[in-house]
Amino acid sequence: MTTEAKQATRSEEVLKKQKEFLWPAVFNYYKEPLVADRGSMQYVWDVEGRKYLDFFGGILTISVGHANPKVTGPLKAQADRLQHTSTVYPNEQIVALAEKLAQITPGKLQKSFFTNSGTEADETAILLARMATGSYDVVALRHAYSGSSALAKSVTAQAAWRKAGVISVGVSHAVNAYCYRCPLGLTYPSCEVRCANDVENLIQTGTSGSIAAFIAEPIQGVGGFITPPKEYFKIVFSIVKKYGGLFIADEVQTGFGRTGKKWFGIEQWEVTPDIITTAKGMGNGVPVGATITTAELADSFKGLTLSTFGGNPVTCAAARATIQVIEEEHLLENADAMGRHLRGRLEELQQKHALIGDVRGMGLMQGVELVKDRTTKEPAPEATGRVMDRCKENGLLIGKGGLYGNVLRISPMLNIGKADVDEAVRILDKSFSEVR
Ligand SMILES: Cc1ncc(COP(=O)(O)O)c(C=O)c1O
Repeated sequence: MTTEAKQATRSEEVLKKQKEFLWPAVFNYYKEPLVADRGSMQYVWDVEGRKYLDFFGGILTISVGHANPKVTGPLKAQADRLQHTSTVYPNEQIVALAEKLAQITPGKLQKSFFTNSGTEADETAILLARMATGSYDVVALRHAYSGSSALAKSVTAQAAWRKAGVISVGVSHAVNAYCYRCPLGLTYPSCEVRCANDVENLIQTGTSGSIAAFIAEPIQGVGGFITPPKEYFKIVFSIVKKYGGLFIADEVQTGFGRTGKKWFGIEQWEVTPDIITTAKGMGNGVPVGATITTAELADSFKGLTLSTFGGNPVTCAAARATIQVIEEEHLLENADAMGRHLRGRLEELQQKHALIGDVRGMGLMQGVELVKDRTTKEPAPEATGRVMDRCKENGLLIGKGGLYGNVLRISPMLNIGKADVDEAVRILDKSFSEVR
């Protein structure tokens, strides 16, 4: 009998330390978590050398490919030149990025406040709205996700993300436009988008009657890619204006071309927001976020503010390079074309696999909701987990979301090609066939 102990794999070693030294609330995907080692464009490798086609991009963050040299080049050059100043000294990178954002954002959005994350961008937006309007009440949407700070958690409207005494002081939640599971039991379009009117009823009954802001993700990300009908945000916008509020578009997931053709998701609904918040895909993986608004609103911020790392020259260089790649390689158009192709192929899968209840989204932000029964629409979270695990074993990374954890989130980088979309769909098809 051999006494030789089995040597732990590199994955096992990392997972052991993760368990010992990191907070368990920070969950990992998969029964056997993937220990990532390196990435190159659309691919990720784990520490055992297995290669995966990445259709999630570290939660919609890899916009133009892992370690894209067109981004890492300027990033490294800036790191060697000047790594940090904090905002007490202006630098060329921060003003150039702010100028570029003023060009690509809709309407008169012109001035940026840079942050390290989406959470801070949303916090700043709400703070500004309260200062600018003199009102306190904020209207958000059910199923929203806004981040990990106390205020962002109180905007968030999913129980799992609101444990341990999160109280939404001054934040009220309207029903959302979740057509597949309409909260009002109606059907689009005969419903005449009645859910939008709930915003007005909520303002009249759940607030002081004048609001600081309405904040929403154009397509709810963590909520499971819930995509409102085309009339929805226009109706809500006019209600928000009637009650004196600012319209904040949380573009942390939908920004920077993700929804195809347009830079920002809210543009798909032909609404010009007062404030846009961004992060994730903005810097292709570096920690950068922004709250972008009009000159007039930015000027109404009272007192001082600062973010030590916000507007860091290295992260600003990465964000500028990411935007440049999106422009030069016409990726708004590619996201639209590949998004349409992906959507068509996912709808084919829906015909074939009874587990798929709904396919929704826009551009390269496509969600697939899994149900046990298409008539009762009972959510199928266990099967969703199994499909994800099978996809991983078959070499494809996708994400998951939704209140019930039953929505696959499929969001490759914006420069994905047709062959990769077809390969992802082939793996999805195989993986669904393996889950009964
Ligand atoms: C729509 C939305 N807003 C805000 C956030 C918070 O961003 P961060 O995790 O960078 O703080 C997220 C994160 O997933 C998000 O999806």
